[in-house]
Amino acid sequence: MTSHRPAAVVIMAAGLGTRMKSATPKVLHEIGGRSLVGHAVVTARALDPEHLVVVVGNGRELVEAHLKQIDPEAKAAVQEQQLGTGDAVRAGLSAVPEDFEGSVVVTSGDVPLLEAETLQELVAEHDKQGNAVTVLTARVADPTGYGRIIPGEDGSVAGIVEHKDATPEQRQIDEINAGIYVFDAATLRDGLSRITTDNAQGELYLTDVLAIARDDGKRVGAFVTEDAMQTEGVNDRVQLATLRAELNRRTLDKLMRDGVTIVDPNTTWVDQTVQLARDVTLLPNTQLHGATTVETGATIGPDTTLTDVQVGEGATIIRAHASQSVIGPRADVGPYAYLRPGTSVGVAGKIGTFVETKNTSIGDGAKVPHLTYAGDATIDEGANIGAGTIFANYDGIAKHRTHIGKHSFIGSNSVLVAPRDVADGAYLAAGTALTEDVGPGEIAVARSRQRNIKGWVARKRAGTKTAKAAEEACADQGAVSDTDEKA
Ligand code: UD1
Ligand code: MG
Repeated sequence: MTSHRPAAVVIMAAGLGTRMKSATPKVLHEIGGRSLVGHAVVTARALDPEHLVVVVGNGRELVEAHLKQIDPEAKAAVQEQQLGTGDAVRAGLSAVPEDFEGSVVVTSGDVPLLEAETLQELVAEHDKQGNAVTVLTARVADPTGYGRIIPGEDGSVAGIVEHKDATPEQRQIDEINAGIYVFDAATLRDGLSRITTDNAQGELYLTDVLAIARDDGKRVGAFVTEDAMQTEGVNDRVQLATLRAELNRRTLDKLMRDGVTIVDPNTTWVDQTVQLARDVTLLPNTQLHGATTVETGATIGPDTTLTDVQVGEGATIIRAHASQSVIGPRADVGPYAYLRPGTSVGVAGKIGTFVETKNTSIGDGAKVPHLTYAGDATIDEGANIGAGTIFANYDGIAKHRTHIGKHSFIGSNSVLVAPRDVADGAYLAAGTALTEDVGPGEIAVARSRQRNIKGWVARKRAGTKTAKAAEEACADQGAVSDTDEKA
């Protein structure tokens, strides 16, 4: 597509977004794992423009900071007052060299479903027709509110009339302006210097540039898309939800066509930034966010949320909540596991039921199967962590690490008071409160020795059912229930 490389893309994103009723600028609301303006930027980048400019105004500090994160090369141009789309593009052009030539693509920061392919086709059509301006349009059932395309001769465009300025006859036109254009740079600059606020809204309309160009004898064309959803904008949170669902549906359709099994598309949500290999299976109520990647043969869900998680080939994750973690090939996670940032589990490792982990690496084949908190731990290959183990990593002031050597065995219900080192091939007896390191081949036993007091029940609980049961059991065994050991 570099043959149709535009000189600049200007994304208009300064509008107020009043109907969102939000402290967050409209273009920073998210769908499919990206902000609205993020979608516009990613789509614009596909054209490989020399300059990518985002016009900011309302909430500009927040929008500018966000742009720095998602696309540091993008330039923000400030529109001080929102005087209309023509004024917005004027502001945008102030960020590029005054005399630059070529094509300028104009899009909106609130049209998130627009696909790069559509924009590329629009630019290709513009070049092919040798147009001065080409506008993206769609035919819609209800054109209310949109600018209408006034046809010219032989398929060209005579101009655009805004809904509020349109005559009843013009309002019958069902071909609408999607608000996405390609302009010849000189035509755009000249047109913008001549537009006025002489219209129903008292605004500087970008759309007036089309009639000006045409009156100068230049060709203005339309490129009609069959897929009107791609041109829809977000103005309130109802539209935000509608477009979110539509985007997700499109993402899932593509994934299924690429070989991913999705058992229940209605309850599965996958961000556009996620990558799934063939023969991955997603079970109901699964949400995959951010930079999550899943290798072939893995099964995720049901009831699982992964954010920035790498999942290896053939791994299984059931009813888990995980972020910034790495799950190795053939590893098992869940049901009911909580993997906080910095967790990794090696090949065929296990993080089981009611286990919480944080900053913890679990080696190949190592297992943390039940009821455990593992924070700031390094657990080497083949180690086994018994049920109910707690890695006590926090002393109230600082966090400390614990290391468990390979093939070591931690008895159930132990508490490991960090910092601690357990060597390779060591044991902890069940119920140990570990406060000293353990060497290779050693077993640590840190609990009081068991003592059985004979006859205690008969003396202290005489007359109870327990005492009667003890008496009968002792009689059966020919033993005495009330020997003389003192309590
Ligand atoms: C605009 C078009 C209309 C088209 C519709 C498609 C004009 C005059 N009309 O109308 O023909 O059918 O889009 O959705 O262009 N913006 C700024 N600064 C401003 C004004 C707007 O940055 O001063 C931005 C908005 O944030 C938004 C975009 O420009 O992203 C479009 O503005 P909006 O007010 O929604 O234009 P419409 O009235 O919908
Ligand atoms: Mg609008």
